[in-house]
Amino acid sequence: MKPIIFSLPGNEALAESITAGIKGEKGDFEMRQFPDGETYVRVLSDLKEKNIFIVCTLHQPDAKLLPLLFLCNLLRELNAKSICLVAPYLAYMRQDKRFNPGEAVTSQYFAKLLSSLTDRLITIDPHLHRRVSMKEIYSISCEVLHAAELISDWIKNNIPDAILIGPDSESEQWVSEVAKNAGVPFMVLQKIRHGDRDVEVSVPQVEKYKNYTPVLVDDIISTARTMIETVMHLKNAGMKPPVCIGVHAVFAGNAFEELKKSGIKKIITCNTIPHSSNGIDITALICKSINANQLELK
Ligand code: R5P
Repeated sequence: MKPIIFSLPGNEALAESITAGIKGEKGDFEMRQFPDGETYVRVLSDLKEKNIFIVCTLHQPDAKLLPLLFLCNLLRELNAKSICLVAPYLAYMRQDKRFNPGEAVTSQYFAKLLSSLTDRLITIDPHLHRRVSMKEIYSISCEVLHAAELISDWIKNNIPDAILIGPDSESEQWVSEVAKNAGVPFMVLQKIRHGDRDVEVSVPQVEKYKNYTPVLVDDIISTARTMIETVMHLKNAGMKPPVCIGVHAVFAGNAFEELKKSGIKKIITCNTIPHSSNGIDITALICKSINANQLELK
């Protein structure tokens, strides 16, 4: 039986290519706002005994949660066999610790809520830093996919003289992997975050790589302060304008414009979040994982 794919608003392009890639069927449903801002949902597809995939990337998650909750509840009532959330970007992974007394560890609450709505989750490079595994907070089955290989391929095809640069120790995991696959050198800098928008990046040893094209790779570009600080630093050290690669184009406020103005050569992101900087397509990665799992789901 063909799986059915629902796309929450804003995810249509990715949902369409996933539907084609897994030979699924587009979910027939209506989701809109009432004049008072409340959400209306109606599903017309026959869901009985069908495996359902909901495509909903979770940047700016707060507004997406209620529509997602309503849809998941409705799908269950309509006898869906299973519900899998495809959230290429998973929010609330960075507040993974009580940094100050009385703070909410929202990654835990968010995980608990999503785990109560769906049976499984497919995501790409979730920000696992202090947590080693999704199992620590998610009680559903989670497939964690990695964009590293796609990024390596992009670098191999586009930047032959690359030196990969990770802006902080947290980035080492993917920077080292990307560098290895691309067959280029890498270095990881030290970052101190003084506040939401106040980030200091340590002096890197750049002398050796002055004739290379620096390629900054990070999982999330949010305020872009981490990237901008690093760009400034490389500039002061006399390196070439860098190429900035982010898996997730969160770009809070005018972060994208600020990064563009900071003296970079190019910004490239994966399409885990729709954005004009998207240049690396993750559709095949997701379809491969779904197709492998469909055998299990039958
Ligand atoms: C943090 O540890 C992440 O890997 C990114 O470096 C961080 O989220 C980037 O945030 P921003 O763009 O706000 O500096």
